Amino acid sequence: MFAFRIVPEIIFGCGVADRIGTEVKKIGAKKVLIVSDAGIGNAGLISKVEKFLHQEGISNETFTDVPPEPWVDVADEAGSLARECDLVLGLGGGSVMDIAKAAAVLAKNEGKASDYQGMNKVHAPGLPKIMMPTTAGTGSEVTFTSVLSNRPVGKGGINSPYLFPEMALLDPLLTLSMPPAITAATGMDALTHAIEAYTSQQANPMTDIFALKAIELISKNLPIAFNDGGNLTARENMLMGSLLGGIAIANAGVGATHALAYPLGGFYRVPHGISNALLLPYIMEFNYKSAEKKFAQIGKVMGGNSDNLSQENAALMAITAVRKLLHNVQIPAKIKKIGVEIKKYSLEEMAAAAMGVSRPLENNPRKLTSEDAIKIYKQAY
Ligand SMILES: [Fe+2]
Repeated sequence: MFAFRIVPEIIFGCGVADRIGTEVKKIGAKKVLIVSDAGIGNAGLISKVEKFLHQEGISNETFTDVPPEPWVDVADEAGSLARECDLVLGLGGGSVMDIAKAAAVLAKNEGKASDYQGMNKVHAPGLPKIMMPTTAGTGSEVTFTSVLSNRPVGKGGINSPYLFPEMALLDPLLTLSMPPAITAATGMDALTHAIEAYTSQQANPMTDIFALKAIELISKNLPIAFNDGGNLTARENMLMGSLLGGIAIANAGVGATHALAYPLGGFYRVPHGISNALLLPYIMEFNYKSAEKKFAQIGKVMGGNSDNLSQENAALMAITAVRKLLHNVQIPAKIKKIGVEIKKYSLEEMAAAAMGVSRPLENNPRKLTSEDAIKIYKQAY
């Protein structure tokens, strides 16, 4: 038995951002909270969206104070502005969309964002939400999660069906200005989603279709988008890969890479995509024997030739392909190489924090103990 959930409306294509005013009007909203960040503002995207809203007689508030890996109280600030509006529009990357989703829910639920961290703690539906991603990575436009950082350390998601956006508006043109390093980091997050959903214990025949296609699209197009940011076909394929990966994780969940990545983000402020990218090959090495057939399939769609190979060697191709991809997009193979020194918080503390990320660990194809987590951190360090 399985269930499959998806956002009610996905609009995808070059130029669809221009429809934002008419789509908001159809929903009947009169005042929109645009959640975004300063970089998106500097790129002129907020004023572009405002123009389309104003053309339809829709006014707006704007909240741009979203840092990477946002603290939980950022959601509270955005939430208090959302209370004056009747729709929330997330225009940005994963952090922006996560704050937008949380703000929409806080507008209709008493209290603070921290009251709702966990599973199914949100009491009532929030404001309608439209997500417009400007990166091809998190898939947050189609998931029911808002990942927030707690002070002093650690991360806690708000997970609720009320966080599912009513609409995802994906315009590849919005991703064209992403610099190579962000393209690489967000693209590796998307690949991690697809690989973890595909090999999850919650995977089902539907999530497999989305996840495998995402792996194929991302592995073929990420190096092209990295080297030639203006290549629209590669950008389109990356945004599609990220969308498909997002749909897959909304139903099959993520795995141990995400669990072990959260302490790197929470303790050492390593960007989410990079944390995943650094750990993914090591987690795959840990996991592959527990899902050999699926790993062999991953290796194949990533371009490997499994003819005359044993199933184990075909599965190992997947890990080789991920390492090659990381090399091609200039992400180092070791945590140390990105300038992070694991000192203030020990590997043991990181492992203990990772073990608290229970759902992804339950999804993982192989049971992982805190001793395993320490070993993996050591290998990756
Ligand atoms: Fe992720």
